[in-house]
Formats: sequence, structure tokens, C-alpha cells
Amino acid sequence: MRVSCPELTARKGGEPIVCLTAYTAPMAQLLDPHVDLLMVGDSLGMVLYGFDSTLPVTMDMMIAHGAAVRRGSQHACIVIDLPFGSYQESAEQAYRNAVRMMQETGCSAVKMEGGRDLAPTVEFFVKRGIPVMGHVGLMPQSVNVQGGYRARGRATDEAAAVMADAIAISEAGAFAIVVEGVMEQLAEAITARVAAPTIGIGASAGCDGQVLVVDDMLGLFSSFRPRFVKRYAELGETVSEAAQAYAADVRSRRFPGPEHIFGSIKKSS
Ligand code: KIV
Ligand code: NA
Repeated sequence: MRVSCPELTARKGGEPIVCLTAYTAPMAQLLDPHVDLLMVGDSLGMVLYGFDSTLPVTMDMMIAHGAAVRRGSQHACIVIDLPFGSYQESAEQAYRNAVRMMQETGCSAVKMEGGRDLAPTVEFFVKRGIPVMGHVGLMPQSVNVQGGYRARGRATDEAAAVMADAIAISEAGAFAIVVEGVMEQLAEAITARVAAPTIGIGASAGCDGQVLVVDDMLGLFSSFRPRFVKRYAELGETVSEAAQAYAADVRSRRFPGPEHIFGSIKKSS
């Protein structure tokens, strides 16, 4: 049985919830035994597709990757991001798109970025059978309004706004809330105040769980390196060294060797 959304909600204040992003079946397979939650994040636009923001990500892209992650896993709860433009217009538009995503991917829940303005949509979803993960603080889909990717909550009015957003989303029925890029004090205050477990990214150890973009923590994505990322491996260097060794082998005819080729055809007697 997969980890369910209510099971994750019940972890509030208990053992921290472990979450990583995943975009492909083989990566999901590797991560699945170790995490509670796999997040098919729209960060794939930057990490896999080379866009400089998450705004160009489409429903079709999310669905293709969500279905792949679902096929590659059997244990973790899978949450998929609704991409920019697919849910902000109205609760009805959002619901239609979320239903399509769940039907075509088999994912258990969706995530949307937003605060007080989004609370009615969250309530609309939960009443109609779709678990919602919230996302407050630094909201990458609002990069053009927020004017960059800076951490939130340094100023007291900004901190109060993020707190009000988290409370509204939790009270609307979100089963968990991602808190991104906020000061430690604010992350701790939100975690203490809201019923939903908080999943932090760049938000200190004070949250009820943590998430990282998997390519960041594996050292596969190096276009930029946010302060909050801890590198658990340097796979980018490993890939680069492997490509260099392969190129040298091909150029010097060391590859393929005798063990890599099909034997010569035996002459029939
Ligand atoms: O898109 C993403 O990967 C995310 C998580 C990092 C929270 O939204
Ligand atoms: Na996202």
C-alpha cells in the first residue's frame, strides 16, 4: 500500500516527513524505498528542460512525467504540481485540470502555489475528492510579481502575509504545505500555528518535513546552487568523467573490446 495523504497529515509534529522530487521512472524507482513522498515538481521545467523559470511548463509535460514517476514507484505518496496557468483562473478550471492529471497519471494529490486567494480553490478540491498540498512563501510561479527568487519574511509585514497565507491554506483543508524560502523563525512559527504538516525547502529544520530537488542534491543540476541545497553526491562530475573516458576509448579504438562484440559467424561444415 502506498503512503496516503491522511497518513502524512498524521505525522504532524512527529517523525519528519521525507520528500524528494522525481521526474522519471528510473529515478522514482531508486528513491521510492527511502522517501515518504515523491513530488513531481514543475521544477522539471528548469531541471530537465532548461527553461529559466517554471512558467513555460505545460499540463502535457507534467502528465508525461507524473505517469512515469507513478510507474516507477510503489510505496511513496505521489504529489504532482499543477503548472502555471492551469489553476489560477477559477476553482472550476483548476478542478478540471487536476482531475485530468490524476486520471492520466495515477498520482494521489496535487500541489498549487498560493495563499489566501487560493484558499477557496483548496476547499473546492478537498470537498470533491482531491487532496491538496499547499505551497507558500517563495512561489516560483509568481517570479514576475515577486521580482525574483529572494527569500520571504525578512520584513515583518511580509512575514505576517506568509503566515496568513499558510493559515488560510491549512484551514481550507490542505493535507500538507510546502514552505519555501523563508526565515527560520517564520518557518517555526508557521509550523507551530497550522494544523497541516509543513514541508520545508530553504526553510530550516523547524518544519515537519523536508523536500529537495533531487537533481540539486545529487549534483546533477549546476546552473545555479541555492544556499539551502546540501549536495549528497556529485553525479554531474561522475557523468562528465564517464563521457570523457568513453570519448577517449572510442577515439583510440579501445572501445568496443573483444568482450563487447558479437562473435564471428561459425562456418557450417
Ligand atoms: O517544483 C518543485 O520541485 C517544488 C518543490 C521543490 C517544492 O515545488
Ligand atoms: Na513547484
